[in-house]
Amino acid sequence: MAGKLRVAVLLSGRGSNLEALIRACREQDSPAEIVLVVANNPDAGGLAIAQASGIATAVVDHRRFASREAFDAAIDAELRRRDIALVCLAGFMRLLTPGFVEGWRGRMINIHPSLLPAFKGRHPQRQALEAGATVSGCTVHYVTPEMDAGPIVAQEQLPVLPGDSEASLSARILEAEHRLYPRALMMVARKLRAEVPPA
Ligand code: GRF
Repeated sequence: MAGKLRVAVLLSGRGSNLEALIRACREQDSPAEIVLVVANNPDAGGLAIAQASGIATAVVDHRRFASREAFDAAIDAELRRRDIALVCLAGFMRLLTPGFVEGWRGRMINIHPSLLPAFKGRHPQRQALEAGATVSGCTVHYVTPEMDAGPIVAQEQLPVLPGDSEASLSARILEAEHRLYPRALMMVARKLRAEVPPA
């Protein structure tokens, strides 16, 4: 059987999705293994989660780079150095350049807390409430140069409840994210692993 697919997670913050992905990858029959966590923010909580799990970490601080291209090139170098086959964005709050995104086309996925194509961009939960939506949820999609617009891998839907605040809706969506992202990662990893010719 082919080995496990080498996965990197890119994040900027607390890392609860990372935690869910790590747990899923620890299952015996997981086709994927998280071998690297990259943060653009040295204070990201996700770094401690990775370290506690024995996963290698790298900080690529965007403030140290003169351009987006140079920042993305540094991330790309970290990924290639570790022989990464699939990248998961999990709360990564930087826009990536088209060149970087093209280089990882079909091998980079993201989670977004809305039912795309509805409510792209920032504060999608607030957007859903303001629009009077009665359903919302989360989406895992392939990353393409246009933000939050790539092909959809999987979605989970949930009701917006009367009286929901941005905080309560976000919390319920986050629980759904922790179910959806591991499931989507396994689907994509199985597909990519099937494409890799045996060594
Ligand atoms: C999640 O809501 C994710 O959908 C969004 O950023 C948040 C990250 O949360 N892109 P966490 O760092 O995984 O806890």
